[in-house]
Amino acid sequence: MLVIENLSHMFRNGGEDTVVLQNINFRVEKNEIVALLGSSGSGKSTLLNLMAGLMKPTSGSILIDNRAIEKMSENELAEFRRSHIGFIFQSYELIPHLTVRENVELPLVFQGVRDKARREQALALLEQVGLGQKTEMFVSQLSGGQQQRVSIARSLITNPSVVFADEPTGNLDTKTEKEIIDLLLDLNKTLGMTFVIVTHEHEVAKRTKRIIQLRDGVLVEDEDWGGENE
Ligand SMILES: Nc1ncnc2c1ncn2[C@@H]1O[C@H](COP(=O)(O)OP(=O)(O)OP(=O)(O)O)[C@@H](O)[C@H]1O
Ligand SMILES: [Mg+2]
Repeated sequence: MLVIENLSHMFRNGGEDTVVLQNINFRVEKNEIVALLGSSGSGKSTLLNLMAGLMKPTSGSILIDNRAIEKMSENELAEFRRSHIGFIFQSYELIPHLTVRENVELPLVFQGVRDKARREQALALLEQVGLGQKTEMFVSQLSGGQQQRVSIARSLITNPSVVFADEPTGNLDTKTEKEIIDLLLDLNKTLGMTFVIVTHEHEVAKRTKRIIQLRDGVLVEDEDWGGENE
């Protein structure tokens, strides 16, 4: 489903090269939920952004549904991302002057889906993330945890192959953090959605079944330990 092969990345700044990822290899199957763990600066966001097609790797390959995304043109990639990839940001990245429902519908607007179908899908997902009573509010009226629920619903609305989340609970208190991770685990179970979740907290990582650990741009551990409930 997601296959990372010999992936390396360096940033070039003023003639100086910084190697940020070195020869990373792993695969994530459909329906898996994986934590990508590592300390600050270990390369987690870089790896996630490469996998989500937000930038091109220096070398190596990223296959999603058997398509090598690093070989795609800008247009192909934009189209592929819209239909195959979901993304959840630490800071939600919602549009404040749109309602909760309108924010969730937005990816479908770009796909040309009609009003009624859009609305129905958004309302069903909002129900699923626990915001069935808040659909017509503006996102600026919601708490951080609620805003992250909106952004989770938005990431799922196109039924992507995989959802990448970069420190999705980084701005939240411990209790809300637990609730958001509960929700992601639940969506993985009920929808079979595939998630790759970046975190620097071992407490968060160990709630998933599998932990991939980065240190200084090197994959140092890939452990399928079975998860907390099994
Ligand atoms: N655009 C860039 N240009 C140069 N160096 C960069 C750039 N982006 C990231 N880096 C460097 O790459 C390394 C990895 O950064 P990255 O953001 O992937 O780490 P991270 O694991 O996500 O850290 P954090 O937990 O703090 O978010 C760091 O040393 C960082 O300084
Ligand atoms: Mg980061």
